[in-house]
Amino acid sequence: MYEQVSHSLLNDILIDLDPKIDCENLKHFYIRLGANFYAIHSLFQQLYGERHDFRQQLQRLVEVMARHYVLRPEEFRQSDLEREKNHGWFLSQKMAGYTLYCREYAGNLQGMHGKLEYLQDMGINLVHIMPLLDGPKGRNDGGYAVRDFRKIDEKYGTLADLDALSADMRRRDMLLVLDVVVNHTSDEHEWAQQAKQGNKEYQDYYYTYPDRQIPDLFEQTMPEVFPETAPGNFTWNEEMGRWVMTVFNTFQWDLNYRNPAVFTEMIDIILFWANHGADVVRLDAVAFLWKKIGSSCQNEREAHLILQLMKDCCQVTAPGTLFIAEAIVAPLEIIKYFGEDAVNAKECDIAYNATFMALLWDAIATKKTVLLNHGLRSLPTKLNGATWLNYIRCHDDIGLGFDDNDIHAAGYDPKSHRRFLVDYYTGKFPGSPATGVAFGVNPKTGDARISGSLASLAGLESALFHQDAQAIDTSVNTIILLHGMIASFGGIPLLYYGDAIGTLNDNTYLSDELKHQDTRWVHRPTLDWSKAERRHQPGMVEYRIFHAIKRILATRSQISAFADLNNREILETSNPHLFSFLRFTPEPTSSRVLAIANFDTAPQALNLNELEPINLAGSHALKDLYSGQPVPTSAGHIDIPPLSFYWLQL
Ligand code: GLC
Ligand code: GLC
Repeated sequence: MYEQVSHSLLNDILIDLDPKIDCENLKHFYIRLGANFYAIHSLFQQLYGERHDFRQQLQRLVEVMARHYVLRPEEFRQSDLEREKNHGWFLSQKMAGYTLYCREYAGNLQGMHGKLEYLQDMGINLVHIMPLLDGPKGRNDGGYAVRDFRKIDEKYGTLADLDALSADMRRRDMLLVLDVVVNHTSDEHEWAQQAKQGNKEYQDYYYTYPDRQIPDLFEQTMPEVFPETAPGNFTWNEEMGRWVMTVFNTFQWDLNYRNPAVFTEMIDIILFWANHGADVVRLDAVAFLWKKIGSSCQNEREAHLILQLMKDCCQVTAPGTLFIAEAIVAPLEIIKYFGEDAVNAKECDIAYNATFMALLWDAIATKKTVLLNHGLRSLPTKLNGATWLNYIRCHDDIGLGFDDNDIHAAGYDPKSHRRFLVDYYTGKFPGSPATGVAFGVNPKTGDARISGSLASLAGLESALFHQDAQAIDTSVNTIILLHGMIASFGGIPLLYYGDAIGTLNDNTYLSDELKHQDTRWVHRPTLDWSKAERRHQPGMVEYRIFHAIKRILATRSQISAFADLNNREILETSNPHLFSFLRFTPEPTSSRVLAIANFDTAPQALNLNELEPINLAGSHALKDLYSGQPVPTSAGHIDIPPLSFYWLQL
């Protein structure tokens, strides 16, 4: 659409553009800016239109975008063009991700080179390296309290090391994911230092108040993210003589996006990392970007406008760069981070599927798929051109963020069911083999979350302790089943480091003064490479898990119906232990794969007559693509062994 106001403004802005920028070859930049400027202008107007300096602020934003375009390495400009042509490239079933801490996985950035082969052998081609940036020692929330957004922490190496790593990864056809912590900074960041010294311009980068009046109003409706270690949402800063909003830890100062300067600083940072090889930027804690008195200060409409604006700006300068939304919120809220009413992804291209993750853990604990089925069915279909990160574990806790209506519909009481899950995974529930640890226990609300490594939560730690061969089998099968699910559901499976070799809880954090109160450290160990070596010894737990995952990923990459094109149908069965869904390619190629999983510890039968949309009753045997073996369909049903799955070619 041709829109006069924004067009004439854009003309003025370009006339005023720094002449140094203008002498570059800006053809592609101008085309994209022209295409996106109407959206950029109207979003910027909605957010900041009231300000007297609106025009200068917008000018500055465009200059930041242009400057980074000029700096963008030719190689990335080329891949931008290729990705624009093939814009669904990341929806492919060939994508498989892995999250790791650089130090715990490889010592430092230079050490990463020698450890990429391990990942490639497993079938991984997208690597999320957890935050690498400079932050105060011990007071950095595992890297999520950043002191300098452009400086790699010395313990990992230098910017040159990162550039070398990203070049190595490109040669290997691997994608790099880096974090940008958009919601807050460390209290030692330069902006915070300036604010502490009384600089009003920088105090306006944060939410600061002279007394409790406004903070008390906010507190009436704001939940607490870390109720044990950082109760409340404001911290008194003696030096500044003001309260500052700190939703997460007391040393993480929330940025004030009501100030357009903050927005432009962040675009500057995002584009900086896009130009240093980030194929994908993980935007941390995006649900929290806008704070409003009287609200929970999560998932606010303006938070979405900010993300849309970030996306539009990034598309002008570095359109090949994708965004991941880290929004671990209620099921109906998560889906909005793709962009609500756009045809294609208008906010983030990728989002963590926290709903599926929590539902899978529910199915393991209950051995039933009732809540899993309800929860997934009430989830709206996401946008085309956007995809999930399907994961089992990550560096954070497991939040039980189900929709209460779904819990009711599954026949449970929400409060006591959540209580049961926490008890189950912390091993308090009689007969539970799990050895997790509670996280974020809030006595005021009764809420609690769960920490623990996948293997420990799946019972491997207790099984090994009791040298119980059958329990070891059960936990290994649980781990494999869960990976089978994240690999076939639709979206990018995202593995967590250590999980492919059955890494157990690590309790060393308990003796660390700076960590012992945050139980998430129990699942952030140093990777034990001698344990990883045992993946080569048949019969060992490490071998069994690693090779199963490798097979899962290799098989998956060959199944075109597993690409994520919103091509999934969940199928009803009357057996409460089974989870089944159909994946298909669009007509006319139309290949179909039926995924069936049994979450029970006993074998279960699937009655083929029940699967309405597919007529299987007449067939004698079906091929399981995962094992490569035929599955007999005797007497109109299929038997599914305990804690296992089939991918049946139809
Ligand atoms: C995200 C991170 C988490 C961190 C929080 C605050 O949720 O995943 O580890 O504590 O943001 O930065
Ligand atoms: C994230 C999530 C929450 C998590 C926290 C820190 O933003 O909202 O589930 O516990 O940050 O891990």
